[in-house]
Amino acid sequence: MKKQPVVAVVGATGAVGREILDTLARRNFPHAEIRALASSRSAGTSVDFGSKQLTVQELTEDSFTGVDVALFSAGGSTSEKFAPCAVKAGCVVVDNSSAWRMDPAVPLVVPEVNPDDLAWHKGIIANPNCSTIQMVVALKPLHDAGRIKRVIVSTYQAVSGTGQKAIKELENQVRQLFNGQEATNEVYPHRIAFNCLPQIDVFLDNEYTKEEMKMVLETKKIMGDDSIRVTATTVRVPVFYGHSESVNIETEKKITPKEARAILSQAPGVCVLDNPGEKIYPMPIVAAGEDETFVGRIREDETIANGLNMFIVADNIRKGAALNTVQIAETLLERDLLRVP
Ligand code: A2P
Repeated sequence: MKKQPVVAVVGATGAVGREILDTLARRNFPHAEIRALASSRSAGTSVDFGSKQLTVQELTEDSFTGVDVALFSAGGSTSEKFAPCAVKAGCVVVDNSSAWRMDPAVPLVVPEVNPDDLAWHKGIIANPNCSTIQMVVALKPLHDAGRIKRVIVSTYQAVSGTGQKAIKELENQVRQLFNGQEATNEVYPHRIAFNCLPQIDVFLDNEYTKEEMKMVLETKKIMGDDSIRVTATTVRVPVFYGHSESVNIETEKKITPKEARAILSQAPGVCVLDNPGEKIYPMPIVAAGEDETFVGRIREDETIANGLNMFIVADNIRKGAALNTVQIAETLLERDLLRVP
């Protein structure tokens, strides 16, 4: 593409949409125009784009005329309805929802892991689930070094992953409890303030949650290896920004903690924070507002021959959503793939 692209951000008023606009501005994403789209509720309001303000327009089927790339973060049903309209108008869609992720015709991409999958897109590219993205960024270089056979992951996920309403719910509950009032909940099934919820998304027939199965299935698709066995427990915790994960891997070839630290220090998008003697390890307060995926607490799993434990933290709104979306768009542009085939 020779000319600068026209970019649409769908869900521009949401937690991720606002971060996408900020990321586009911060990384100087080339553009002829940026269109901020949301529901009729927000039409006419404004959102920040760098030092400028954009007027939000209502998303309609005609919103994509002349648009080269649309970055969607407005929920699955909006994506299902409007992404095909965008593609029909000749616009490439990068979609943050789970609507298209497991569609075999849709690449599911983390640019540090499987950028080559972008080559076969047919108009829609799916951005993976936030917890999956940060895990595969750290696991791919270890998989390349020693072939991962099995992954056991437990997550500690921030409320911002549920969107603006959940951020407000945690704020309100903390205020209510400190004022001696009863905490009210609408977004989550139970109080989230000073609590942990071992349920993210709905329960499925196999007794896992949808979030847990996203981690299982998406990891295999992104890593391009169906043989990796993954089991997950996903938990919502009262943190605003930054998902944490305790990850255990079993590899075919032994990787020592020292080797893992060396491999991960060279890995794109990864920052090793692992000096327990100095109390240095990844935490949400370290990762919030940062682009990198932080890995630490790397140690041998002494219960098996070839096992490692580690703690992985990233800003779920940045690498888990907005940044990965923008990186996909950047890679499409670099590889001259910003067109509907
Ligand atoms: P709006 O603010 O107008 O409701 P979050 O995940 O933080 O809750 O944000 C969701 C984003 O998706 C918001 O920008 C929201 O717009 C947008 N959105 C939700 N439903 C629709 C819809 N039916 N059409 C267009 N945008 C939508």
